[in-house]
Amino acid sequence: MDLQIAELDSNVIGQLLGQKLYSPKGSLLLGMGAEIGDFHYRKIKDVGYRSLYVLQKSHSDVLESTGHVLSEKLRAAAPVALKQIYQKLLSKDKIKVSNAKKELSVLADSLIRDVDIRMSAPPDIVDLKRQSDYIYQHAISVAAYSILMGQSLQYHQLKLFDLALAALLHDFGMIYIDDDILMKPEALSDKEAEEMRKHTVLGFQHLGRNCFIKGLVTIVCLQHHERFDGSGYLKGMVGNEIHEYSQIIAIADVFDAYTSDRPWRRLHTLDEGIAYLKDNAGTLFDEDIVKHFLRFFEM
Ligand SMILES: [Fe+2]
Repeated sequence: MDLQIAELDSNVIGQLLGQKLYSPKGSLLLGMGAEIGDFHYRKIKDVGYRSLYVLQKSHSDVLESTGHVLSEKLRAAAPVALKQIYQKLLSKDKIKVSNAKKELSVLADSLIRDVDIRMSAPPDIVDLKRQSDYIYQHAISVAAYSILMGQSLQYHQLKLFDLALAALLHDFGMIYIDDDILMKPEALSDKEAEEMRKHTVLGFQHLGRNCFIKGLVTIVCLQHHERFDGSGYLKGMVGNEIHEYSQIIAIADVFDAYTSDRPWRRLHTLDEGIAYLKDNAGTLFDEDIVKHFLRFFEM
């Protein structure tokens, strides 16, 4: 950990405090090593601090942890919110669907803002992978990793927003897949694998036909299992035939799935996830996009 002085502005939110902070009356406001939350920031500012010491994690700190780019608060709240949104998107009630779309926009915005903040203070340990409701936690992680890549590729705000929406919805069709298949500890039979593949089309159809979500977003439902060298499904598309959003989200999807604890596989470390992406850059994934993703871990 490196100690650095930081001006007291909203950029300190989410960072780790590198000193103890006291009120004018001498009571402790916040201890060293604490994560500075929105509430703390306002309180510290009210007391009159202009700058403070923060702890910057070094490259090796990040690599040693199974890092996550989102704050603890959002990691806990976002999957719950996304689950409710998915349920409303399934509704036949048009008002519910329209509300769900608004809520989805708000969630995408919060993720983009959160990733922005976290970029100035690299990730700490994540443990969202051993909880239930894997689909929603996975979608949130995939969105966060995709936002990182979009930012690194210098996407403007609207593009970044569409990318975040697409990532949040890429596996929407999974809600149609039986839990027995989703959670099966052994390898899937050919028939089950065939069933599983349908999540792509089912998600695309529901979100387009019933929720009127634009094609640029829902195309990712269809394409996120395509691979750069043509070895993926549904169509065996090659290279840039696959939309860039789908290519980005495929990398985030594989990386999160690879480093997550699933019934059929032990948790791989972050280093193993990075090595997997490096090994498959240029074959399964676009080499340049992988580089944009891995830049984050080399900070
Ligand atoms: Fe998928």
